[in-house]
Amino acid sequence: MPSEYSSYMETGNKVIDETAQGSTTIIEPTVQGKRKLYIESYGCQMNFSDSEIVASILSKEGFNTTNSLQEADVVFVNTCSIREKAEQTVRQRLRSFQKAKKEKPEMIIGVLGCMAERLKSKFLEEEKLVDIVVGPDAYRDLPNLVQQVDEGKKAVNVILSKEETYADISPVRLLSNGVSAFISITRGCDNMCTFCVVPFTRGRERSRNPVTIINEAKELFSKGYKEVTLLGQNVDSYLWYGKEGLKKNYTNLSDEEKAKSMNFAQLMEQVALISPQLRVRFSTSHPKDITDEFLHVMAKYDNICKYIHLPFQSGNTRILEVMNRGYTREWYMNRIDKIKEIMPDCSISADIIAGFCSETEEEHQDTLSLMEYVKYDFAYMFKYSERPNTQAQKRLKDDVNEEDKSRRLAEIVALQRKHSLEANQKYVGRTFEVLVEKVSKKSDNELAGRTSQNTVVVFPKENHKVGDYVQVKVNACTGGTLLGKAIS
Ligand code: 5AD
Ligand code: SF4
Repeated sequence: MPSEYSSYMETGNKVIDETAQGSTTIIEPTVQGKRKLYIESYGCQMNFSDSEIVASILSKEGFNTTNSLQEADVVFVNTCSIREKAEQTVRQRLRSFQKAKKEKPEMIIGVLGCMAERLKSKFLEEEKLVDIVVGPDAYRDLPNLVQQVDEGKKAVNVILSKEETYADISPVRLLSNGVSAFISITRGCDNMCTFCVVPFTRGRERSRNPVTIINEAKELFSKGYKEVTLLGQNVDSYLWYGKEGLKKNYTNLSDEEKAKSMNFAQLMEQVALISPQLRVRFSTSHPKDITDEFLHVMAKYDNICKYIHLPFQSGNTRILEVMNRGYTREWYMNRIDKIKEIMPDCSISADIIAGFCSETEEEHQDTLSLMEYVKYDFAYMFKYSERPNTQAQKRLKDDVNEEDKSRRLAEIVALQRKHSLEANQKYVGRTFEVLVEKVSKKSDNELAGRTSQNTVVVFPKENHKVGDYVQVKVNACTGGTLLGKAIS
């Protein structure tokens, strides 16, 4: 998910294929050390965040990070399995490492993340180059696994955990602009949407100790960061009950656990209270779990960004049921109404799947009509891609033909383009507080940042700099970007 995406969407709406979604993380060089580690990450924000944990674990073993593949002693690819194309991208990338390894045979190549978990030791047979295969819950074992390879063995650890949240690990911030950072708050997913591999590759849902989350956010703020994004496959089901362990429902907690408990709304409030100068974002929300209590907390604090990524996947109740999403079209619409009632200025984005098993033409029309109802600021739009071992692969037929899938996706994309442009046009003439994240790609004389609503704004630099909050009056827009000028 979203979330699950590039943290910076200067291009606005995209049909996400894995080359767009899975951009490359190249680690910045750090202090001098003995061996050099190079990591590339693909897929969701959680993977990018996990790579920072991996870098931290190995830095304690004397590894330095590098942004040069040739210089690296250890090369890791943090992989995504969400759609077939994501896996193809990774395989291609592994093949391209072949050349580097030929020139430097002692180079260790490791596969991390969802593909490692899904394929396990099969990876070693399929991709002869790979020396290490590590699933998302086994990163603490990396020093040991690297040692095994040093001793001439191949190394695999794909054990999933019921407790691991890496709560005590202080991530090494990679590719950081020094302004925004991710903080993982949950791991895994218990939702079992029938199309999705995540519950199999990332395991059961666990919530991280809130003290460690709040401390991480405070530390980032003290180092000058201005924005944190709380990450989880379903942040709304965050529930701490005194210890790390499998997800529980509040009603099933003992009195003692209830006394120690903290839900997502309460956690969010604690993070927001760190400083009004620290923006807080979150991803991904789930329509079945997002509560009014949470929406009220959001509305109460200006520094909680007014942006919700609320995937709906399909606008048709029967399809939602086949997907096992746990809500109906009407329920989803009610959540949207509530968001707009409590925060009229809140922007909303979604994930949408075209051509899921058995979807009829009328059911596809329901997706378009829901889009018309909500008018999303932007959306991530996908063709259904059957994934091995999911419930859909086992029980349902992938029976919408390729041509229909492509056409339905094209209709969804066209409608979304129109809505994005309309949404941005509505912002023209208004003034927004923009947190500057970087110098614009197009010109050194321009800065780029985001509004609370997550829309990218580009404006002349003048005497402003990265990390500043700047009041910017918007005077023009494209479908993906607002253009403006700072006001004094
Ligand atoms: N096919 C197409 N899209 C998928 N997603 C998850 N699994 C699949 C699949 N098998 C999409 C969903 C999810 C987003 C992260 O990826 O829209 O919200
Ligand atoms: Fe996959 Fe559904 Fe969990 Fe999202 S909520 S990660 S789509 S199973």
